[in-house]
Amino acid sequence: MRDRGAIFAGLVFFLALVTYPIWSGLAAGEGGGPPELVLPPEGEKCVEETSAMRTDHMQLLMEWRDEVVRDNDRIYTTADGRRFYKSLSGTCMSCHADKEQFCDRCHNYVAVTPYCWDCHVEPPGGQRWD
Ligand code: HEC
Ligand code: HEC
Ligand code: HEC
Repeated sequence: MRDRGAIFAGLVFFLALVTYPIWSGLAAGEGGGPPELVLPPEGEKCVEETSAMRTDHMQLLMEWRDEVVRDNDRIYTTADGRRFYKSLSGTCMSCHADKEQFCDRCHNYVAVTPYCWDCHVEPPGGQRWD
């Protein structure tokens, strides 16, 4: 068992490598919890239920895009009868005006980078769009 030392060192190195994302995150102060989101003021209500928005907002945006671009169909009526313009910058970002503290925080956490902002206008941070 002359290799024991080398095996042990290899094992330690391997463990350090596979757990790197965890401890580098901790060192960067990210903690383990979900990101803190800055939400619109009390009393506002999202286009659909929050739980549905959390999981399906990308599908909703793609539907809006297709309906606007293909059919010039620009008004969305919610289940409870509220009406919204089908617009990323104009509608979503009028309530979620602080993109950095909302969309970006969550997307950074899950490591997705939507390319929408190559073309669509980002609202200036922290201000309401309208
Ligand atoms: C009229 C204002 C308003 C509009 C327009 C709006 N939202 Fe929301 N949204 C809210 C509010 C308020 C909440 C938080 C509700 C709560 O805490 O239950 C929310 C929650 C969310 C969440 C879940 C956040 C979480 O806590 O996990 C997502 C994702 C989201 N919105 C995305 C969007 C997208 C994408 C659009 C455009 C399609 C949009 N919102 C349009 C007001 C709005
Ligand atoms: C509660 C967390 C959360 C919030 C807040 C959030 N997103 Fe997302 N978003 C996600 C997740 C998770 C995905 C990736 C889903 C997947 O890969 O299937 C995603 C994906 C997307 C995509 C598709 C990207 C792609 O390349 O497929 C778009 C577009 C998008 N989000 C727009 C927005 C906008 C605009 C806002 C702010 C108004 C927002 N999101 C806020 C969690 C969030
Ligand atoms: C290459 C440029 C480009 C990219 C990238 C792009 N879009 Fe668009 N988008 C457009 C154009 C042009 C229109 C048509 C604008 C109109 O007729 O009002 C549009 C319209 C839309 C609309 C409806 C109108 C509005 O005001 O928002 C939605 C919703 C939309 N796009 C969502 C998205 C989402 C979500 C992404 C990212 C996943 C995305 N787009 C990426 C160019 C782009």
